[in-house]
Amino acid sequence: MDTMLDPIDALKSDHEAVKVVLGNLDGYLKKIGGQTSDSLRKNLINQLHEITSFIDKDLEIHFKKEENALFPVLGNYIGIETGPIHVMLLEHEQSRQLSKEFKDAIAEYSIDGKYGKIISEGDSLTQLLSEHIEKEDNILFNMAEMQLSNEEKNEIMDKMRTVK
Ligand SMILES: [Fe+2]
Ligand SMILES: [Fe+2]
Repeated sequence: MDTMLDPIDALKSDHEAVKVVLGNLDGYLKKIGGQTSDSLRKNLINQLHEITSFIDKDLEIHFKKEENALFPVLGNYIGIETGPIHVMLLEHEQSRQLSKEFKDAIAEYSIDGKYGKIISEGDSLTQLLSEHIEKEDNILFNMAEMQLSNEEKNEIMDKMRTVK
């Protein structure tokens, strides 16, 4: 099967893009924490908008590909209400919540100049998503490779292409 026609390969390739952004975020958070100049810190925090926009748009599309295309079909084999898919769905919700708190912290900084919450929320989000991707790549996607037929993979890929 062609790489770009395989839904699991496509999701893994999304993960690589997310990991690059998480690495950038981690770099920004360390620089923000270690910065002694308020104006340089402000510049760094302004640059976080690129990352929050990736999380709002690209990561949200990735979650929807999993939630609307992969999970319903894989769920026929391993269940959705309990087990690994249930845990993945909970983590998507935790990520959405942390991302909201991260953006709130950035908005609050522009009012009160306190940046500690940006770092703590950003760190929590980075950690959650890194571990989430690890689990999908190493556990869930292996289950998918074992269970799904080529026909089901094609069906999932078609559905994933409609996610915007
Ligand atoms: Fe996921
Ligand atoms: Fe994922």
